[in-house]
Amino acid sequence: MKLLEIKNLWVSINGKQILKGLSLDINAGEVHAVMGPNGTGKSTLASVIAGRSIFNIDDGEIFYKGKDLTKLSVDERAKEGIFLSFQYPVEIPGVSMVNFMRNAIDEKRKYFGQDPISMHEFINMMEEKKRLVEMKDTLTQRSVNEGFSGGEKKKNEIFQMAMLEPQLSILDETDSGLDIDALRIVSNGVNKLRTPDNSFIVITHYQRLLNYIVPDVVHVLYDGKIIKSGSKELALELEKDGYEQFIK
Ligand SMILES: Nc1ncnc2c1ncn2[C@@H]1O[C@H](COP(=O)(O)OP(=O)(O)OP(=O)(O)O)[C@@H](O)[C@H]1O
Ligand SMILES: [Mg+2]
Repeated sequence: MKLLEIKNLWVSINGKQILKGLSLDINAGEVHAVMGPNGTGKSTLASVIAGRSIFNIDDGEIFYKGKDLTKLSVDERAKEGIFLSFQYPVEIPGVSMVNFMRNAIDEKRKYFGQDPISMHEFINMMEEKKRLVEMKDTLTQRSVNEGFSGGEKKKNEIFQMAMLEPQLSILDETDSGLDIDALRIVSNGVNKLRTPDNSFIVITHYQRLLNYIVPDVVHVLYDGKIIKSGSKELALELEKDGYEQFIK
């Protein structure tokens, strides 16, 4: 089943063209890696899928579960199961992780006409997901990301992802700034969340991550479009010979 279908997407900001006819299909259950030089539009693609409205969609179509995604707000997209882990996670001082997560889960349940999660169920879920990403209690007791180290923020993003159980997760350079142990933990977390229904877009500069999170497809994004797609071996070719080999 096709989960995400992007056709000839053109996106600009303040008159600057960033995405230039990008097409991408993702089936349920697949992991797609997106690689490419700095400033070629990877984070823009992630933001557009998640629904950040600062970007203009000039042309093209995005379908998610067969629905026109551009008609849904950021909130609706999140509730429909789209999760974006930011390249630079934000701090939310004064909002505890516990409240933040409980609220996010309840909002989603409300959207689907379900009752709020019980305290008992929520606590069990927190414990289970904390184990998944080997997250310390001291972090979940603090405000969201406040004073977290770079690596702790990234790990926290994966924890939030695990809690929200999204269908389409977009990880934007979640691996940058992680030490070897954190990289393994974060990757294991992602791998445990892989199901035949869930898909992932993994944006990364480093082939190393893809040894841990093995992608079904690797794409090269260059100058606003995908110029090459291939199997996981493509990431090795990129690491060896760089991007130039694919630029016409
Ligand atoms: N808010 C904005 N205002 C102006 N230009 C922007 C804005 N956001 C992105 N851009 C520009 O769009 C281009 C693509 O940016 P984007 O963040 O998508 O690149 P990227 O592929 O994620 O790069 P990196 O690998 O460095 O993270 C860049 O030239 C960037 O300066
Ligand atoms: Mg980026």
